[in-house]
Amino acid sequence: MMNGPNLNLLGTRQPEVYGATTLSDIEKLCNNKAEQLGVTVDFLQSNHEGVLIDAIHDARGKYDGIVLNAGAFTHTSIALMDAIKSVALPVVELHLSNIHQREEFRHQSYISKVAVGQICGFGAAGYPLAIDALATYLGAAT
Ligand code: DQA
Repeated sequence: MMNGPNLNLLGTRQPEVYGATTLSDIEKLCNNKAEQLGVTVDFLQSNHEGVLIDAIHDARGKYDGIVLNAGAFTHTSIALMDAIKSVALPVVELHLSNIHQREEFRHQSYISKVAVGQICGFGAAGYPLAIDALATYLGAAT
């Protein structure tokens, strides 16, 4: 579970858009879902593109897939797209908000071009949904 820039501020960051749930609350939701499904989930949040790229590289051979909320890097980062393509791990793209209903610049996603699919618009509830989606894709759900 990788979270990009500014998502460490969830809970206080534009709650009218992103809700009042904090990232550590979200981590609990994800752990509950993982336990339910009999899978393991680890977390990373970084405000730095290079750290996320390194983590995608390091995931190879260690994880079966990635859920990625790349924050604003979604709309700008060819480097993240290339990293995903390079490691050939399944990625579920995730956003709290429905990016398609927001400003035009959020409609473009470099992650979508290489992701298995996208979940957006369900707020914090999207996180366990994304784990479900990835586990189903991997045939890992028990
Ligand atoms: C976001 C949507 C992005 O457009 C924005 O830059 C974010 C959060 C979301 O979860 O809704 O930082 O990825």
